[in-house]
Amino acid sequence: MEKTLVLVKPDGVQRGLIGEVISRLERRGLRLVAARFLQVSPELAETHYAVHKGKPFYTGLISYITSSPVMAMAWEGPDAVAAVRQTMGSTRPTEAAPGTLRHDFALQVGRNLTHASDSPENGEKEVALWFKAGELVDWKRDTDRWIFE
Ligand code: RTP
Ligand code: MG
Repeated sequence: MEKTLVLVKPDGVQRGLIGEVISRLERRGLRLVAARFLQVSPELAETHYAVHKGKPFYTGLISYITSSPVMAMAWEGPDAVAAVRQTMGSTRPTEAAPGTLRHDFALQVGRNLTHASDSPENGEKEVALWFKAGELVDWKRDTDRWIFE
């Protein structure tokens, strides 16, 4: 089953939107695999955002993600990466479709509420970066057969 990393970033935590994010992913039918509420270290932030090193927004991005705790979660489901990114909406909230989290709760790219892995490969990599293997819960949900074909 495809896995993806979701972060409720510091703005989402400070604004009391952890529940809103979880609720939308649950209602969509995705299955929670792991969750951890933590203060992100500069080391973890730099590894997670290594691909953006050198870009003009990199320094701001590192201070944003380390500014306050985040809620880190792994979710799974068929096409979980695409499904979660669709639920989040476009990176720039003013380009996000109505009904998406970033449209409904955000205005600026530097305060866009959530992170979601952008490919199945990065989903695997990021889940392994944020969680130890023993923290991932392998479970069956009673409703799975009514959500997964
Ligand atoms: P994410 O990784 O957070 O799920 O978002 P994404 O794939 O849609 O966007 P990505 O290109 O990976 O950028 C990561 C985060 O960096 C911030 N950003 N700021 N000021 C800017 O132009 C800019 N561009 C990106 C955003 O917080 C974005 O989510
Ligand atoms: Mg990204």
